[in-house]
Amino acid sequence: MVQIAPSMLAADFLHLEKDVELVNEFADLFHLDIMDGTFVPNISYGFPVVEAIARKARKPLDVHLMIVHPEKYVERFAKAGAAYISFHYEAAGEASADILQQIQALGVKAGIVINPDCPVEKIFPLLPKVDFVLIMSVFAGFGGQKFIPESIDRVRAVRKQLDAIGRPDVPIEIDGGIGPANAAAVKEAGATMLVAGSSVFKADNPAAAIRAMRG
Ligand code: DX5
Ligand code: ZN
Repeated sequence: MVQIAPSMLAADFLHLEKDVELVNEFADLFHLDIMDGTFVPNISYGFPVVEAIARKARKPLDVHLMIVHPEKYVERFAKAGAAYISFHYEAAGEASADILQQIQALGVKAGIVINPDCPVEKIFPLLPKVDFVLIMSVFAGFGGQKFIPESIDRVRAVRKQLDAIGRPDVPIEIDGGIGPANAAAVKEAGATMLVAGSSVFKADNPAAAIRAMRG
């Protein structure tokens, strides 16, 4: 079954409650993009916004950390209500396995993220330990970018490796430029969690866009 995770980066921050209710009613997860202005050249939002969403959320919070030193902040995001936390392999490197464990010890599902220029093989040693994998289909940092088609083969490669190590049930999340036009292709390749910002919140009918991605 596929899960749809609207990215709140594209929500209307002056009417956030309305968009939170949309996710509660029609989607599966809240995707929360945390950017630090150092790992990525952009700054999004922080704890006050995450905590405000958590108070109204009836679906799990999926926190995507685009920050250096994710290990310093995972505990606070867990306390703020995260059910899923992912961090970038490019930011954590050798420390990735320990950070996955740190997240899991907090009772939170732990995911590793890779940007489009990171060879998928780099994270193969971590696949026995992850709760999910997030494959970026744009370079992390901004909403509203164009989907990179090569991402489909990257999803396929990770799915194949998960099958090979006997972990076919590990979810693969895909993030960046996802919408009704490419949802079927990424699902066919093995993605099971679809992040979508612009294609949901900028749509005339967000509920219909979510339904179309579910298929
Ligand atoms: C990009 C973020 C994405 C982004 C997705 O750095 O990780 O989650 O908000 O937005 P769209 O769906 O508009 O590409
Ligand atoms: Zn994201």
